[in-house]
Amino acid sequence: MIINLMVDIQARKDEHIKLALENKLQSNNSNWLENVQLIHNALPDIDFSDIDCSMNFLGKKISAPLIIDSLTGGTEKGKVLNQILAETAQELNIGMGVGSQRISLDDPSVENTFSIVRESAPDIPIIANIGIAQIIQMSDLDSINRIIDPIKANALAIHLNPVQEIIQPDGDTKLAGSLQKISEIKEKVKIPVIIKEVGSGISSEVAKKLVGSGIEILNIAGVGGTSFAKAESIRAKTIGDKLKKKIGENLFNWGIPTAASILECRSVADKSLTIIGIGGIRSGLDMAKAMAIGANLCGMAQPMLRYADKGKANLNKFIQSIIVELKSVMFLTGCSSLTKLYNAPKILQSPLREWVLDRKLR
Ligand SMILES: Cc1cc2nc3c(=O)[nH]c(=O)nc-3n(C[C@H](O)[C@H](O)[C@H](O)COP(=O)(O)O)c2cc1C
Repeated sequence: MIINLMVDIQARKDEHIKLALENKLQSNNSNWLENVQLIHNALPDIDFSDIDCSMNFLGKKISAPLIIDSLTGGTEKGKVLNQILAETAQELNIGMGVGSQRISLDDPSVENTFSIVRESAPDIPIIANIGIAQIIQMSDLDSINRIIDPIKANALAIHLNPVQEIIQPDGDTKLAGSLQKISEIKEKVKIPVIIKEVGSGISSEVAKKLVGSGIEILNIAGVGGTSFAKAESIRAKTIGDKLKKKIGENLFNWGIPTAASILECRSVADKSLTIIGIGGIRSGLDMAKAMAIGANLCGMAQPMLRYADKGKANLNKFIQSIIVELKSVMFLTGCSSLTKLYNAPKILQSPLREWVLDRKLR
C-alpha cells in the first residue's frame, strides 16, 4: 500500500516537472503587475554602483531579495535538479525552498534528494516544505523534525493548495481544522513558519486569520504564473477522468492575481509581516513592482526549473540578469536601497485600481 502511494507521488512529481519544462503550466491570465506603473526619476542622484539590494531574511544576509521557490525532491531527477538549484543559490547568495517533503516522511530512503540541498548550500536560508493536508493527518507533530533536520532548514513552509487537491485524482480535501493545526505546528517548531500558496494567491481575510495565529511570513504565490489546475487537468485527461479534466479546465485561472494578493496581504499588517511576492514573477522589473506595492522580497519557481534543466551556468546567468535588471529599475526610480524601493512613487491602473477600491484595501 505504502509502496503504491510512493510510486504514485514520485510519478506525479516527475510529471509536474515534465509539464513545467514543456511550458504547459503557465496561467492564461497575467499576474496584474502590468497595472503597476513606477514613476520614472529623471534625476536619480545616485551612483548605480552604490545600489544595494541585499537584505536580512531568516537570520541570514542575502545578496538580493530573491528565493528559488519550492520545486522538487523525492526522485532521482529531483535530486539532480535540487543540487543545481542549491549550488547556484549558494554561489549567488539567495534563498531556496525545497519541494514537498511528504514523500520522505513516508520513505526515509529518499531523504538524500532533499539533504543534497543543504550539502550544496551550507550558508543560505533554506526552507522546508509540507502540505497542510499532511499536517492535518499527522498524529505526532514531532515527526515534522524529520523533514526540518536533514536540510537544517531556516524556516518551514506549509503549502495551501486547495485548487490542486480538488482536481487531483485522490486529492486530500479534508481541510477542516487547518488553522488550529497551523497554530499547533507553529508552537512545536523552533524555526519560523511560512504559509504559502502555490499559484492561487492569499486574500486579506485569510491573511488576517494567519497573522492572528502568529504567522509572520506569507508567500502569496498568486495567479499569473504556474497553474496547478492546468497540471492536474492534464493529468486527469491522461487517466481518462473526464470530470476532473473539465473542472480543472474551468479553474485554470482561478484565484487572486499576484499584484492584487500582495496588496490584499499588505493591507492586513505593516512591518510585522514579511510578504514574499511570487506567481509569474519573470523579470527584475516584475520584482521591483511587486516590492513597490508591498512585497519584501520575491521568488520564482518555473523559470528557475527551466534554466536549471539547461545546467548550472545557464541558471547562474539568468539569475544574475534578473538582479541587474532589478538594480536598473532601482536606479531609474532613484532608489539606492530596498527600503527606498518599498516606498517608490507609483500608480495603480485598472483593473488593479478597482480591485483596491472595491476591496477597501487602502
Ligand atoms: C514543477 C513544480 C513543482 C512545484 N512543487 C511545489 C511543492 O512541492 N511545494 C510547494 O509549496 N510549491 C510547489 N510549487 C509551486 C511553486 O513553489 C510556486 O509557488 C509557484 O509555481 C508559483 O511560482 P511561478 O509562477 O514562478 O512558477 C511547484 C511549482 C512547479 C512549477
